[in-house]
Amino acid sequence: MVTIIDAGNSHLAERCPVADRAGQDAVAPHPMVKLEMKGVCKDFVTARGTTRALSDVNLDIYEKEFVSLIGRSGCGKTTALRIMAGLIQPTSGEVKIGGKSLWSGSTIDSSVITRMGIVFQDANLFPWYNILDNITLPLRLRGVSKSARHARARELMGLVGLDGFEKSHPRELSGGMRQRVAIARALSYNPDLLLMDEPFGALDALTRERMNLELQRIATVIGATVVFVTHDITEAVFLGSRVVHLTPRPGRIQDITTVDIPRPRPIEAQSGQRFVEIARNLREALDKEE
Ligand SMILES: Nc1ncnc2c1ncn2[C@@H]1O[C@H](COP(=O)(O)OP(=O)(O)OP(=O)(O)O)[C@@H](O)[C@H]1O
Ligand SMILES: [Mg+2]
Repeated sequence: MVTIIDAGNSHLAERCPVADRAGQDAVAPHPMVKLEMKGVCKDFVTARGTTRALSDVNLDIYEKEFVSLIGRSGCGKTTALRIMAGLIQPTSGEVKIGGKSLWSGSTIDSSVITRMGIVFQDANLFPWYNILDNITLPLRLRGVSKSARHARARELMGLVGLDGFEKSHPRELSGGMRQRVAIARALSYNPDLLLMDEPFGALDALTRERMNLELQRIATVIGATVVFVTHDITEAVFLGSRVVHLTPRPGRIQDITTVDIPRPRPIEAQSGQRFVEIARNLREALDKEE
């Protein structure tokens, strides 16, 4: 299913301003599709049989949009994200990024995915590297000079609020700080597509709330398209311009909800009438699944 961004999508409206031409009706430019999944199915074949993880997933994600992906455990969220990242190939169907197919037969077109950042549930930092070196690793692998790497890392550490921790090691940081390092690392090469799989799942409620505010701010600053997987309905609604609900066995798109709440959203927005209503509808839809 493809949904059209409507005028109520203030998140996109902020980033794709309506043309203002004197004496004429304002004309909204067409949002560009950043990522497309068309008829995507994924079967996992194991010694115990075949699991259909995703079935006929059709989704268009627009430039600079923030899409939350929710659903019960095992419904295929991580599988969908890994397919978007080109880490696994769909059994059938097509994935396009910026209008170009990710796969040609069984060969991946790596030129399509060069500006993609991925953040997983665990920060996955190298314990023997300090924070600066962890953040700059992708740049080092791309042959960026040391001075340019360090300048970029310092900029990112400011962005994610980690100034002064350059020489620290991951073990000296809290869980929330480690996740901020992982986000900075994913941002190091200016991704225009950021894929996040429950990045705050292991954090306590207060830290998670702070990280949600930070991520909202960072996403606005970098202007990337973000796909954000979470179990948490409040987090999904707070961050998302749209919330995609996947149902399990096999994973299918049940519905797509536009979150028509203006940004930036303060934490207090979570107790607003519209927010509560959207979250309640999503919870009821999830509760209906067995
Ligand atoms: N590599 C794999 N081999 C076999 N089956 C797999 C593999 N990866 C995922 N699956 C199966 O695919 C289905 C979807 O798994 P997936 O990890 O995408 O779910 P999820 O929605 O991310 O769950 P969670 O919320 O618990 O992280 C599950 O039934 C899972 O057992
Ligand atoms: Mg998962």
